Amino acid sequence: MPLFRAPRGTRDLLPALHAPWERVEAVARDLARRYGYPTIETPLFEQSGVFERAIGSDTDVVEKELFRLQSRGEEQESWALRPEATAGIVRAYVQHGMRTLPQPVRLSLLGPMFRYDRPQAGRYRQFWQWDVEAIGDPGPAIDAELIELGYRFYSEAGVEGVKVHLNSIGDPACRPAYLERLAEYFSAHRAALPPLERQRLETNPLRLLDSKDPEMEVLIAQAPRLVEHLCPACAEHFAAVQAHLAVLEVPVRLEPTLVRGLDYYTRTAFEYYREGAEGQQQALGGGGRYDGLVELLGGKATPGIGFALGIDRTVLALQEQDRDGGAPAGTLAVVVGADPDDTAGRLRLATRLRAAGLAVRADLGRRRLGRQLEGAAREGAHFAVIVGDEMAEGHVQVRDLPAGTQRTEPLADLERYLRRAEASHHHG
Ligand code: HAM
Repeated sequence: MPLFRAPRGTRDLLPALHAPWERVEAVARDLARRYGYPTIETPLFEQSGVFERAIGSDTDVVEKELFRLQSRGEEQESWALRPEATAGIVRAYVQHGMRTLPQPVRLSLLGPMFRYDRPQAGRYRQFWQWDVEAIGDPGPAIDAELIELGYRFYSEAGVEGVKVHLNSIGDPACRPAYLERLAEYFSAHRAALPPLERQRLETNPLRLLDSKDPEMEVLIAQAPRLVEHLCPACAEHFAAVQAHLAVLEVPVRLEPTLVRGLDYYTRTAFEYYREGAEGQQQALGGGGRYDGLVELLGGKATPGIGFALGIDRTVLALQEQDRDGGAPAGTLAVVVGADPDDTAGRLRLATRLRAAGLAVRADLGRRRLGRQLEGAAREGAHFAVIVGDEMAEGHVQVRDLPAGTQRTEPLADLERYLRRAEASHHHG
């Protein structure tokens, strides 16, 4: 038993896992560049009020899953680790007066989030999201731009069979009347409700539709549906979003019980699932419109929409498909030497090659040449560059480790020779 372990629900991303991770992140960053969503970084923690106000005090995320931090001394502030990125980004939008910029302001953020949830497969206490937001555009076209962007992410990352689940959850014009109907419906079944849901019936009946409790499944399926009670403006918006998505050829599945787990949503709500993996806690990503959020956090009324895609679940899906691409491309060459004690000579040559941009390691142990060569082969290097007597005349031996061949190269040509080989090393 080790003395210490990583905290429950957290993971060390060892290099073998980090390699597919980096490839997935590279897809996200490249898409952000092509679609014009530059990067914003916000603090890993915020005043708790940012999350309580934005996400809602009677959501699971705030009520049960917030990692709260103790401030010290004078500060008397209450902080929490960010459980998601949207609230912090909108806080930054207001704080920095971004409404004077051309609208919408498009932003993206890739980083760790924290939820004090019960850990299980695909659910961690520290996980990573790629979050994308467009603030200042009422849609509907921007809704489709974002939904298509998320959809493209999965296809470029190589996740197969991803479907968009889509719904509209209305706005302050039509939701109150619907909530009354919903409350009536659940009140009629009060006796069958689990205690937490019975309590939420009083505070926020919409939350019941997002319940993780399996006992709620049948009740939820038969509950009145918000899409059937949208006001004309919301209905028109929803139809236009679907029409845009049809033009972009994004297949969607209308999902009338989709309400999302955070309170700030209005109108468009969507989630990404893999076919056959559509249960609770299996969403690969999700998002929606939040037309009231900027105002809620102290800004002028401004519409917004965004999504967050789970990087952990994306990599898991790739592993399940055996498509995570395996280990990272490693060392191209290892500099070894006939004189075990000449570590400085090996390090100097390796340093020169690295400065030229090549992935080269020097053998820094003081063992004989045979052992150094074995080490280089075990590491998976393509070449061993052997520093020996020919060094005096400006030559080294280059051994192709997989092929077992060896040749003499002038030092002056070494860099060019390795660079040419590197292309086939990466692609071969
Ligand atoms: P969310 O649905 O709470 O939305 O999270 C988005 C995605 O993050 C989930 O679909 C899932 O892939 C991943 N995720 C969430 N919790 C965990 C966890 N405990 N372990 C692993 N992965 C997890 C939001 O966070 C919103 N801020 C999305 C958004 C942006 N809406 C508008 N803009």
